Order: sequence, then C-alpha cells, then structure tokens
Amino acid sequence: MDLIGDCIDYQIPVTTRTEARIWGLPKFSSNYDVSAFFLSLIRRTTVPPTLPFNPFSGSKNVTGNYTIGATFCSPKNTSKGGHEKTVLLATHGLGYDRRYWIPTVKTSEYSFAEYAVSKGYSIFMYDRVGTGESSRVSGYNESQISNQLAILTSLTNSVRSGHYTGTLGQPSKVVHVGHSYGSILSHTLVEQDPSISDGIILTGTGYNATAMAFPVAFEGVRGNIATTVSPAKYMGLDSGYLAPADIYGLTVFFFNPVDFDPEALWYSQYIAQPLAAIELLPAVAGSPGATNFTGPVMILTGEVDLPNCGGNCNGGILEHPTREIFSKAKPFKTAVHPNSGHGINFNPNATGAFGVMMDFLAESGL
Ligand SMILES: *[C@@H]1O[C@H](CO)[C@@H](O)[C@H](O)[C@H]1NC(C)=O
Ligand SMILES: *[C@@H]1O[C@H](CO)[C@@H](O)[C@H](O)[C@H]1NC(C)=O
Ligand SMILES: *[C@@H]1O[C@H](CO)[C@@H](O)[C@H](O)[C@H]1NC(C)=O
Ligand SMILES: *[C@@H]1O[C@H](CO)[C@@H](O)[C@H](O)[C@H]1NC(C)=O
Ligand SMILES: *[C@@H]1O[C@H](CO)[C@@H](O)[C@H](O)[C@H]1NC(C)=O
Ligand SMILES: *[C@@H]1O[C@H](CO)[C@@H](O)[C@H](O)[C@H]1NC(C)=O
Ligand SMILES: *[C@@H]1O[C@H](CO)[C@@H](O)[C@H](O)[C@H]1NC(C)=O
Repeated sequence: MDLIGDCIDYQIPVTTRTEARIWGLPKFSSNYDVSAFFLSLIRRTTVPPTLPFNPFSGSKNVTGNYTIGATFCSPKNTSKGGHEKTVLLATHGLGYDRRYWIPTVKTSEYSFAEYAVSKGYSIFMYDRVGTGESSRVSGYNESQISNQLAILTSLTNSVRSGHYTGTLGQPSKVVHVGHSYGSILSHTLVEQDPSISDGIILTGTGYNATAMAFPVAFEGVRGNIATTVSPAKYMGLDSGYLAPADIYGLTVFFFNPVDFDPEALWYSQYIAQPLAAIELLPAVAGSPGATNFTGPVMILTGEVDLPNCGGNCNGGILEHPTREIFSKAKPFKTAVHPNSGHGINFNPNATGAFGVMMDFLAESGL
C-alpha cells in the first residue's frame, strides 16, 4: 500500500442507545450445548408443534460505550482517477475483522483496499464490535444486530462529516460495501434510512430463500466454543464466541473446496475472528426487506457460495427477489462471480470481482 496509498489507523469512541434483546437461555457450557443451539437454529419450524426458535427472554433499553478499531486509506496520486472524495465504508462479515478488506497476504491478489485505492477511491474499514481491535464484549449481548447497526450508523455519520478521513476532509459521497453479515447490516442501514448512503455494494449475500443453504453451511462449519478451538488465541472470551472446529470447517463455509490458494486459506485461518452466538439470530428472522433506496446497488456473490446459493448461484437466483427488494435502485446490477466460494476476497480471481465492483461505481458516477 505504501506506494499507492496513505493509510491511517484510528481507535474511535462510539456510544450507542438501543433496545437490546436479552439472552434467555443458559450459556453454553460445552460443545454439546453448541450443537443443540445449532439444531434449534436450523430445524424446520413450519410443522407444528415446533415453534420458531426464540432464545430471548425480553428487551431492555441500554447504552453502550465502545472503542472501534478502524483504518482509512486514500490514494497518494489523485490525478489517477479523481474519485478520492468517494469513501467506501466497508463492513466485514462473520468470522473476520477489517483485515478481510486489507489483508497482508499477496496484496496485489487479495487486498480490496489496495485495489480500490489504485482506482483512485478512498476506503474506511472497521472491526465490528467484538472483533479485531474493537472492544471485546459478551458473545451473548452487545454483539447483537441492533447494536452493530447503531455502531455502523454512528461511523457513517462521523465519516460523512469528515472525521476519521485523514487529510481528505469531508467526503462528497459515502458508499457502503459489505460482505455477508456486513451486507445484511449495510442493507438494513439503508432500509431504515434511504438517505444515509450514496450507493451500496453487497457481496456474499443472497435473497432467494429456495436457494439458500444456511442450515447446511452452519452444520458444515461446525462452530465450537472458540476457547476450546484455540485457547491461546481466544483467551478471555466468554463461551458465546464460536469458531469453526478446524480449517476444513472454514473451507466449507468460505472457500471453493476444489479451487483455492492454500496461502490465502492459511492466512484467512490465521486472521479468523470468532463470531458471537447472538449474531447468528438474524438468520432466524430472515433477510432484511424492501427498501426505497434510490441510489446505485450492486449484489455480487461467488458462483459456488454455499450459504446463499446452496453452492450454485446460477439460474437467476441472485436476480430474484433481489431486484424486487431494491425496486427503486438505479442502476441495479447483480453479478455471479465465477468459481468463487462465499469469502470472495480470499478466493481465486478476487481482483476480477474487485474490478466488477469498481467498474460499477465508476459507471454509476460515484
Ligand atoms: C425503549 O424506549 C422506547 C422509546 O422510549 C420505548 O418505546 C420502549 O418501550 C422501550 N423499551 C423497553 C424494553 O423498555
Ligand atoms: C448487556 O449489556 C448491557 C450494557 O450494554 C447491560 O446493561 C445488560 O445488563 C447486559 N445484559 C445481560 C443479559 O447481560
Ligand atoms: C457511556 O458514556 C456516557 C457519556 O460519557 C455515560 O453517560 C454513560 O453512562 C456511559 N454508559 C455506559 C454503559 O458505560
Ligand atoms: C500520478 O499519476 C499520473 C497518471 O497516471 C502520472 O502521470 C504521474 O506521474 C503520477 N505522479 C506521481 C507523483 O506518481
Ligand atoms: C417507501 O415510501 C413510501 C412512500 O413514502 C412508503 O409508503 C413506504 O412504506 C416506503 N417503503 C419502505 C419499504 O420503506
Ligand atoms: C428464486 O429463483 C428462482 C429461479 O430463478 C425463481 O424462479 C424464483 O421466483 C425466485 N424466488 C423469488 C422469491 O423471487
Ligand atoms: C475473473 O473475474 C472476471 C470478472 O468476473 C471474469 O471476467 C474473468 O473471466 C475471471 N477470470 C478467471 C480466470 O476466471
């Protein structure tokens, strides 16, 4: 990044006020409990007498104060594209932190930040609460989606008003880029307030319920209590934090198992972050819904994405009902990224996906 971009790291204080759900189940005391939790999460609920899984015992209005680790990068040579005032605000998915966007492995092949900056754009990336250099919180409480959303809203407002943007000052455009859970958050953000964003690119996501295979993917990844998987790495986290049982679980969920770069896979395992059990619960509530957002929207998902497409995104399943959900978006585009698993940025030909994303922004006038 040295040659093409200037990057600056931040530790950002954020205060949230949310209506939090209260975890009502016993906390996990073993991986048998985690197995039971996943069965509750994925089991068929349409046939009586099984009721939808509800692990909550109530709600409470809470205030939370967090520190959020973030990085802002902008191009050194602005004569290249002149897009530097467009800031991409990137939210990573479950299992990673902001290094999903700015890895240190083979950066010319896998770094989205480096690619975006080389095209003249600026990018702001942060660690979702509970990961990376952000505040460590309980896996049963503060990681829940309402709080994650409040943090994203706060960061968006800060970036838009010119905070945490190095010497760039106030951006002219803020584009939200998400991967997986980060896409759910970015979508929910504009669903709540269509004026908060100038464009969104949602990667590693899908909306066609018939095609989704979250139960298979959740069982395939074999989540275990993180401290039982890597005691030293995850020391101090409570039992609400889960990690893939081994690298094969990670591969099933994020990679194309018949076409991957071992170096990218091992790096991805090295930087992997645990996910909070309470983060998984939107999966029960379903995808976010229709929005009046009128800006540019791109949906880009790997061709062999397991959770969103059951391993095959072809046949129009990425197009519908996505197009109906974003009926006011202009332009609207979906892209099936050939040969890629769910974790696009670490799959082969990641720069091919980055090119499709950045071309879309340029064509959309962002
Ligand atoms: C939280 O505050 C809102 C707004 O004041 C109120 O409508 C809601 O009932 C409160 N929720 C709880 C669980 O107290
Ligand atoms: C969750 O955290 C909030 C502070 O953010 C605290 O007020 C609340 O009691 C916690 N709830 C549980 C169930 O631990
Ligand atoms: C968060 O910080 C605010 C302002 O400093 C303070 O009033 C509040 O009590 C804090 N809340 C928590 C849960 O620590
Ligand atoms: C900036 O990029 C332009 C166009 O690619 C090039 O002509 C110029 O030499 C570059 N300047 C620096 C300082 O690298
Ligand atoms: C879109 O806007 C219309 C008109 O203001 C409103 O009735 C509708 O509820 C909005 N839809 C969504 C999904 O927010
Ligand atoms: C899911 O995709 C199939 C195949 O393209 C399509 O027939 C179906 O209508 C889609 N479902 C929805 C809800 O759009
Ligand atoms: C890489 O991705 C781009 C964009 O989807 C595609 O056009 C190209 O064919 C891909 N290359 C390979 C080798 O798959």
